[in-house]
Amino acid sequence: MADLRVSVTEAFRHRFGAPPAHVVRAPGRVNLIGEHTDYNDGFVMPLAIEQAVWLAVGPRDDDRVVLHSTRAPEPADFRLGAMERGDGWGEYAKGVAWALQAQGHELRGLEGVLASDVPEGAGLSSSAALELAVARALSEGAGLDWDPAVMARTAQRAENEWVGVRCGVMDQMASACGVAGHAVLLDCRSLAVTPTPLPAWTTVLVLDTGTRRGLVDSAYNARRETCERVARVLSVPALRDATLDGLQAAEDVLTPTQVRRARHVVTENARVLAAAEAMRQGDAARVGALMAASHASLRDDYEVSSPALNAFVEAAQAQPGCYGARMTGAGFGGCVVALVASDRAEAVAEAATLAYRQRTGHAPTAYRVRAVGGASLEPVPALFL
Ligand code: GLA
Repeated sequence: MADLRVSVTEAFRHRFGAPPAHVVRAPGRVNLIGEHTDYNDGFVMPLAIEQAVWLAVGPRDDDRVVLHSTRAPEPADFRLGAMERGDGWGEYAKGVAWALQAQGHELRGLEGVLASDVPEGAGLSSSAALELAVARALSEGAGLDWDPAVMARTAQRAENEWVGVRCGVMDQMASACGVAGHAVLLDCRSLAVTPTPLPAWTTVLVLDTGTRRGLVDSAYNARRETCERVARVLSVPALRDATLDGLQAAEDVLTPTQVRRARHVVTENARVLAAAEAMRQGDAARVGALMAASHASLRDDYEVSSPALNAFVEAAQAQPGCYGARMTGAGFGGCVVALVASDRAEAVAEAATLAYRQRTGHAPTAYRVRAVGGASLEPVPALFL
């Protein structure tokens, strides 16, 4: 939100005694459809959202990077010339600096203050937003060209190789390449970005179950390994290249679980492309039906949903004006995304929240999200110039 732009600027001036040189913003994302397809070279359809990481920065004379976060007591503090692994949130910043340097870029030290209103662990990509904010600030400080897709890959590399999470590229691409007022169809193999308009008179709701995922990294990595194993058995580069016929033909040499996992990926890729087509035609009902089918597949074939996610999806889909709902992000907890008729958005949010709370006893939240542009350099508030 715009007030974080002001508050990080104020916090910067308070801490360092001068206004920042730059303020950067990098958004979180919600994924409309296309789950667990990105690391299979497939298709996804996220939108970058207003909730974002904001970072006010200024240059330093040495090679230190010092970043203070309003969410953490300890700053990220490291030297570009002597990078060592540690733990805590600063590893995301360090990983980005490491990945940029590994590509041969010469970086300069900087100091800054960051704040975020992307909820953590909710499946809305708070880490990717942090990575892209740091990438944007380091690039600006070093005078590097900003190529959003290249930077998304760099941030993914930071997370894969420095932080040690084997995520795909969707979250970083969404934060880097978001387009205002649009979802973006991403081809996770070519990194082609196709802005895709939301159907007229529809609103995207985020329904937060109030539950947070546990053990998600190990389950995530296990799913990914299964996909890679099935692709090898089918002799395709990735499950993006698999077909239902090919899968059926290999059923004898696969376990039933492997078949179900791969079936999710194959059918989900098809659903994303069908949803993009339906969106171009403004067919909200069709998009919603595809979202509902996506949820069923994630619940039954991929097995990454949770009782709370299922309950919230059901509560939302029971409301008039809800076209479709599904879990969003890695799963096991976090948020549901729903496509609803704009004039029913509030009613759906209220009724679904009430029904979900009564059924589960959890403390949910619900809000509309707006699709915004990808990571950007923002004007330093005039007040401080
Ligand atoms: C997490 C990962 C993404 C993607 C989703 C599932 O958000 O970071 O790369 O795999 O899970 O679709």
